[in-house]
Amino acid sequence: MSDDDSSNGNPKGIARGLTNYGDRDFSLYLRRSFAKSMGYSDEMLERPIVGIVNTASGYNNCHRGVPELVEAVKRGVLTRGGLPIDFPTISLGEVFLNPTSLMFRNLMSMDTEEMIRAQPMDAVVLVGGCDKTVPAQLMGAASADLPSLQLIVGPMMTGRHAGERLGACTDCRRFWADYRAGRINKSQISAIEGNLATTIGTCAVMGTASTMACIAETLGMTLPGTAAIPAVHADRLRAAEATGAQALETARLGLTPSRLITEKSVENALRVLLALGGSTNGILHLTAIAGRRGIPISLRRLNELSDSTPVLINLKPTGDGYMEDFHTAGGMSALLRELAPLLHLDCQSVTGQTLGERLAAAPGYLDRAIIRAREAPFEARGGLVALFGNLAPSGAILKRSAADPTLFEATGRAVVFTSLEDLADRIDSDDLDVKADDILVLQNAGPKSPAGMPEAGYIPIPKKLAQSGVKDMIRISDCRMSGTAFGTIVLHVTPEAAIGGAIGLVQDGDEIKLSVSNNSLELLVDDEELERRRLAAPARPARPSRGYGKLYADHVLQADQGADFDFLMASE
Ligand code: FES
Repeated sequence: MSDDDSSNGNPKGIARGLTNYGDRDFSLYLRRSFAKSMGYSDEMLERPIVGIVNTASGYNNCHRGVPELVEAVKRGVLTRGGLPIDFPTISLGEVFLNPTSLMFRNLMSMDTEEMIRAQPMDAVVLVGGCDKTVPAQLMGAASADLPSLQLIVGPMMTGRHAGERLGACTDCRRFWADYRAGRINKSQISAIEGNLATTIGTCAVMGTASTMACIAETLGMTLPGTAAIPAVHADRLRAAEATGAQALETARLGLTPSRLITEKSVENALRVLLALGGSTNGILHLTAIAGRRGIPISLRRLNELSDSTPVLINLKPTGDGYMEDFHTAGGMSALLRELAPLLHLDCQSVTGQTLGERLAAAPGYLDRAIIRAREAPFEARGGLVALFGNLAPSGAILKRSAADPTLFEATGRAVVFTSLEDLADRIDSDDLDVKADDILVLQNAGPKSPAGMPEAGYIPIPKKLAQSGVKDMIRISDCRMSGTAFGTIVLHVTPEAAIGGAIGLVQDGDEIKLSVSNNSLELLVDDEELERRRLAAPARPARPSRGYGKLYADHVLQADQGADFDFLMASE
């Protein structure tokens, strides 16, 4: 794996992908010369290279531990005779991005793919964690198809406030709802603000970051057993060192993402998503990752799997525990062992070991308060369900495990907000004509809208209803919801309003019928009237005319295709 191999037309290490000066030998000589300016010896420059994607950023609190992880990965690479070289890419800190982090996931995936491809390396370790970073890295790695290992930064530890255990960000929302309803005051919410996110790492519950960590492990893209290790735990650093040590072996085995991300491993990942009661964003991101390998995910197949995959995990936002509890309860190995009869056990991980071989090892400690047996699940069916009907011909998603079952079969009057601005202006107005059994509808917040599909689907309960004790209502939108949120919230309605979807035609007072038992979502307005509204609809806002905003608006796909760019999906 040294540049000696270059003579056979398959250059390795520093000789890979030379800068083109029209003279190959000159290019290598110049590269080595400049590499030496960084103090590398000849011996080091003969070694195979493991690139390390360094996503530390002052705008990403979740990645505050990345520098230490990168150093640990380097140790591991050096122990196996490789040369570790870290390099930066875009880093996406969930709450620091406007209008929403999803808009930049595809940009980060392009950055990741192109920097893996453009720079000389024989394998790559992707250090990520915050919501959009792991999907972006897996999408980029799946397209670049170099041997790649995902290293998760790990979840935060919980904090304490007034004797209560708190974790971002399910508790953030619970306390904010209490504040809006007047149950706690300003000084109390200020004190809570300082205790919700108190360590390095990603949100402490089974939100999007944790869901995607578990999906990455299920796809075989991480070292087994590493998804749930807390960010502050010394095991996290040992996992980083072990990941660095594994990287060149993964390359030697030829275990590229195309060997690991397969129809079978994607189906395993869907099972895990459902058994976790995982984030609704998980289906969007997994669809985008699989799409990079030409593997379509059907929402109707999701429903089939959901009918036969129980929820086994008791973590917030659907249950009681936090990620640190999941880790100590047995973590992913315990969950995968419970699901084994439903999984494709011949799928490999970056180690080369199959899932079946992994699960043949003796089980470790298992806490049944957090991880249930398949025969005694927390819920008999999977956490997510796709809904179809004239309001969502290409599907919508409901996280039924985080919703109120008493609202699952309902017909209600629509109260419509035409945009995020309209929502912010009127939701708390005393004049808003709204009752507890109405259905709140938010339009124009899908992938192609100027809003860029933000996590605004968790429409607040109107203040006057919240103050009278209403805690949940049916809410429908073409945008997303944070994986840490809860409620009877229908998301990802496709097609979205911005491309003429029926959700954009709903008017105040229309009747909407939700039936979770029938997987259906219907707008009870006849086709003739909908066509009349379609013809009378106002012109859509102009799209951005330059820059990334234009690229995004021109090429982003709908939610059922993972909101990837059309030109980034695998060609047929
Ligand atoms: Fe980074 Fe929640 S803000 S994972």
